[in-house]
Amino acid sequence: MQRIEDRSAVVGVIGLGYVGLPLMHAFHSAGFRVLGFDVDPEKIAALHRGENYLRHLGPTMVKDMLAAGRFDVTNDFSRLADADAIISCVPTPLGSHLEPDLSYVEKTAEDIATTLRKGQLVVLESTTYPRTTREVMLPKFEAKGLRCGVDFFLAYSPEREDPGRKDFNTQTIPKLVGGIDPPSTEVAAALYRKAVKQVIPVSSAEVAESAKLLENIYRAVNIALVNEMKMVLTAMGIDVWEVIRAASTKPFGFQPFFPGPGLGGHCIPIDPFYLTWKAREVGMPTRFIELAGEINRHMPDYVVRRLSLAMNDRGKALKGSKILVLGLAYKPDVDDVRESPSFELIEKLEALGAHVDYHDPHVPATHKMRHHDLHMKSIELSPAALKEYDCVLIATHHAAYDWQMIADHAKLIVDTRNATRNVKGKRDHIISA
Ligand SMILES: NC(=O)c1ccc[n+]([C@@H]2O[C@H](COP(=O)([O-])OP(=O)(O)OC[C@H]3O[C@@H](n4cnc5c(N)ncnc54)[C@H](O)[C@@H]3O)[C@@H](O)[C@H]2O)c1
Repeated sequence: MQRIEDRSAVVGVIGLGYVGLPLMHAFHSAGFRVLGFDVDPEKIAALHRGENYLRHLGPTMVKDMLAAGRFDVTNDFSRLADADAIISCVPTPLGSHLEPDLSYVEKTAEDIATTLRKGQLVVLESTTYPRTTREVMLPKFEAKGLRCGVDFFLAYSPEREDPGRKDFNTQTIPKLVGGIDPPSTEVAAALYRKAVKQVIPVSSAEVAESAKLLENIYRAVNIALVNEMKMVLTAMGIDVWEVIRAASTKPFGFQPFFPGPGLGGHCIPIDPFYLTWKAREVGMPTRFIELAGEINRHMPDYVVRRLSLAMNDRGKALKGSKILVLGLAYKPDVDDVRESPSFELIEKLEALGAHVDYHDPHVPATHKMRHHDLHMKSIELSPAALKEYDCVLIATHHAAYDWQMIADHAKLIVDTRNATRNVKGKRDHIISA
């Protein structure tokens, strides 16, 4: 506590991705010495050169930390012993049967356990099912003969990062902190209070773990609801976007969510299934969550069907046609393509015999991912290029797009984001999906 108070504590961060890197920056800005760990040698080398591989965090963030000192990164995990606090931000993906893949969390817990010493604070930030901190991490540490809450401290604090968001950042997003025991909550909350404006201690690690899942499931369920509304209202010839705008005028009791071509990003498509899996242990069905997942996962099929019907109306078969997908990132104005539905759209259209290209101002080329390896490069977007395609599919509404220019030159547009709402004329060529 003393070292936290006088900011002489070394803060170690494991997993220097979308969550870990800005977190390191937050503690560095608060005056702490930070030590980052990652298994990816390219990331470590880039950071040593002062390069930031996450563009939305700005070009100078890493350079500034390097110049200020108190900043180091390594893939030598024996140096975990140097850290007074260790915060783990490693991935928590799904396995091929939608089951939690905790291998990264387990590996990290083993790394920490190897050098665990008296006085260390360990915090897990990765999104996961309730009791992970207590059941997966704690036993590995106690096996060292150290006592939690006395010799070391262990807590869970969910990350609520929204990459690309301008109005909130790591420092200003309120932080939940729940310890394995009251002393752990106290120490972890004291640390975060130095770097984050508002810290909210909760009574246990399980409350903090579950709160994060509730936040993400709330989004998944509400997005599924508007996706269902979209399919129903579209079939009735009613504009779902205008309906959402209209409902949003109610000053209480309604929060707008927006339909799309499917779920993307690291969190919403994945996290609900962590709870679904864990719920089986207590014999509880999670029908609501699974139904939401089913509807959201169906959306790319719905979009492809709308697109092929629109082509059919124009006497065109998908087979042999040329389709341009606009937007590969899963949301506007970022280069994050993780779990992006655009990949599924491209694969489904290609499976039906279409030739597909894409354009994304933030993603010049595709790279190998867990489930996809498309080997594609973004085309140059121009009036002449647009005319080459039988259909333009709007998957992501990046602000950089000139929708009027696109509408003026595309033969047919399938718009999953209401991006073309202000386009003048050409309405006959625009289908919403
Ligand atoms: N991205 C978000 O917006 C977001 C928001 C809230 C919560 N989360 C959660 O935070 C966690 C991390 O997500 P992320 O988006 O930062 O992932 P990421 O893929 O951007 O970063 C994870 C990093 O961990 C590294 N890594 C993997 N195994 C490691 C190991 N054994 N030791 C050290 N480093 C290792 C990877 O090389 C990578 O750099 C996940 O549980 C995620 O669900 C993410």
